[in-house]
Amino acid sequence: MGSQPDLAGNPDRLRWNARYEDGFGGSFGPHPLAERALSLRLPGGPVLDLASGPSGSALLAAAAGRQVTAVDVSEVALDLLRRESLRRGLDGLITLVHADLAAWQPRPGGYSLVLCTGFWDRAVFGAAVAAVTAGGLIGWEAFTVDARRARPGLCAGWCLDPGEPAVLLPAGFTVLAQDDLPDERSGTKRRLLARFG
Ligand SMILES: C[S@@+](CC[C@H](N)C(=O)[O-])C[C@H]1O[C@@H](n2cnc3c(N)ncnc32)[C@H](O)[C@@H]1O
Repeated sequence: MGSQPDLAGNPDRLRWNARYEDGFGGSFGPHPLAERALSLRLPGGPVLDLASGPSGSALLAAAAGRQVTAVDVSEVALDLLRRESLRRGLDGLITLVHADLAAWQPRPGGYSLVLCTGFWDRAVFGAAVAAVTAGGLIGWEAFTVDARRARPGLCAGWCLDPGEPAVLLPAGFTVLAQDDLPDERSGTKRRLLARFG
């Protein structure tokens, strides 16, 4: 597993490790956005899954024959993904990167599909957009500011402002879909799928 130094006291790492250690009840089911993106026309090249967690989306992309890079600050999450990828015989296709996305930079133009679900940071979105190769896709899902009514503890900085993330896309991207997913109990999320070129 590739690893950044200096993550020992990282607050995101500590918080998410504790959550995953508390019991990962996940099914390794792929995110619907990954299912949709992988069903569309895609150029050759690897898939990048940012803030992947123990990602069923990474497993789906690998099962489709794609090389996948999964990046997460929680080594507990990445170890869950590593074990499941081994169990499925997909470990050779998935590269695990233990890193804080505030510091890790993807290779510009290096990925046919860049996915991120359940995480928001404007600077990370900018780097992610630049990582999409010509003809490739970016898929993103995160809470909107409206979600703070249902989840008052949610930091404003972790939430999408009106129109985001589509309004932040540079020229050359076409929005295939941007939809709000209202949820009174858990908070509204917004889902974007866009193509570059
Ligand atoms: C809500 S979970 C989403 C996991 C997965 N993408 C999904 O949709 O199920 C958020 C993930 O972001 C990761 N994360 C939080 N802050 C991070 C950071 N600064 N850098 C990298 N990963 C981070 C957490 O470890 C966690 O796995």
